[in-house]
Amino acid sequence: MSSTVIVGTQWGDEGKGRVVDVYAANAALVVRYQGGDNAGHTVKIGDQSYALHLIPSGIVRQRPSILGNGMVINPKSLLKEIADLEGKGLTVRPFIYISEDAHLIMPYHLALDAASERAMGKGKIGTTLKGIGPAYTDKFSRTHGMRVGDLRNAEYFRARLETIVADKNAILEKLYGAETFDAAAIYDEYMAYYAVIKDMICDTGEMVWQALKRGDDVMFEGANATMLDIDHGTYPFVTCSTPTAGGASVGAGVGPSLLDTVIGVVKAYTSRVGEGPFPTELKDEVGARIRELGHEYGTTTGRPRRCGWLDACVLRKAVRANGLDFLAVTHLDVMGEFAELPLCVGYEIDGKRVDIFPSALWEVERAVPIYETLPGWQTPIADCRDFDDLPVNAQRYLTRITELTGVPLCMVTVGSERDETIVFKDVVMA
Ligand code: GDP
Ligand code: IMO
Ligand code: MG
Repeated sequence: MSSTVIVGTQWGDEGKGRVVDVYAANAALVVRYQGGDNAGHTVKIGDQSYALHLIPSGIVRQRPSILGNGMVINPKSLLKEIADLEGKGLTVRPFIYISEDAHLIMPYHLALDAASERAMGKGKIGTTLKGIGPAYTDKFSRTHGMRVGDLRNAEYFRARLETIVADKNAILEKLYGAETFDAAAIYDEYMAYYAVIKDMICDTGEMVWQALKRGDDVMFEGANATMLDIDHGTYPFVTCSTPTAGGASVGAGVGPSLLDTVIGVVKAYTSRVGEGPFPTELKDEVGARIRELGHEYGTTTGRPRRCGWLDACVLRKAVRANGLDFLAVTHLDVMGEFAELPLCVGYEIDGKRVDIFPSALWEVERAVPIYETLPGWQTPIADCRDFDDLPVNAQRYLTRITELTGVPLCMVTVGSERDETIVFKDVVMA
């Protein structure tokens, strides 16, 4: 049995999709276990680029793809994504399995996300406006959540929807002065989606369990990232789910003893989109240069991403919160332009040295990064296919990351193309 969880270690967009794509070639199942279409995962093969939002990246390898119970699913987005991928020549529908227990994102969730962000003004979270927070809030309220499986019982769905929409309309109108919704119109819309997806809906937890019992390879694809985790991230500037590895068990429907290996995806620098603290952020021309070199614009929203140096305090937190076995370091090529590479090895907070990312927002805001500067390599590395092909200073940068985290490497990527990848058979460790 081999089950592998792939998680983001920073604030998202580390390259999880392309890492999954490398390992998914022979996977029996690839499972998304949390989040929704706030995620944007990219897989590039030649001049074809695939953007995945709800569907696991394993679909590019034409692997059976599960949308697990821990997800929140906007069926409108799902149908668009299926159509987009089919338009690029992939077979999609026969490979998709949707958990009956996943929650639905409803039109009022998007409206509430937007209204809440507007009302927060400068204090906003900077969400993707996909309705993620309101949908998870309703899930946990128990009173207002709607599950994919509820679509199977039209009368139950209609009755529940009428009560819920009345409550949502009251909030939208009275609290936010926003447009309200017509329950009958939502009912018709969602029944039309159901007609298309009904054969994809099943007990996906059972599928994962049976595959693991057979000894098949199963991959769990995390969306968002550790520092956006509702428990372990920079609360309240986080998403509403559990991207960390423990979420794979809950959100796929199998127990934690069934997860074998956890791989943390580390961007060779740091990026963040949306609001919230980011100690190593570069608000100068160096940050802008990293953004240009790394094409750091959101896959989902197109927003420019904030960029900064790599931060070992963030990585150490990710090592602990996920129990990382290996690191996959991506975007190493982007660092190739700089003569010197400052790497944050700790913070100074009110005169004290701190090694792990603090929990309290006000402490993070006072954190002054302590940098260690490594020499750059200033040469293209996109053709390197082996650790030994890399310039010595690139090797040193990677080795330092393993020293600072205590976690070995399993992969390094040197460009966005599928084959611009170094996969280690033997673990590379300091
Ligand atoms: P994800 O959300 O973690 O899957 O990452 P995204 O797909 O949102 O963002 C990663 C971006 O970087 C995408 O545009 C990828 O094509 C690109 N990318 C991935 N790996 C590399 C790499 O090693 N080098 C460069 N230059 N770009 C990469
Ligand atoms: P992938 O899977 C980067 C961020 C948003 C915002 C916060 C909350 O592509 O790495 P939400 O819409 O989830 O309520 O927004 O979380 N965010 C991401 N940032 N990559 C992502 O996903 C993200 N998913 C959510 O920008 O700051
Ligand atoms: Mg992304």
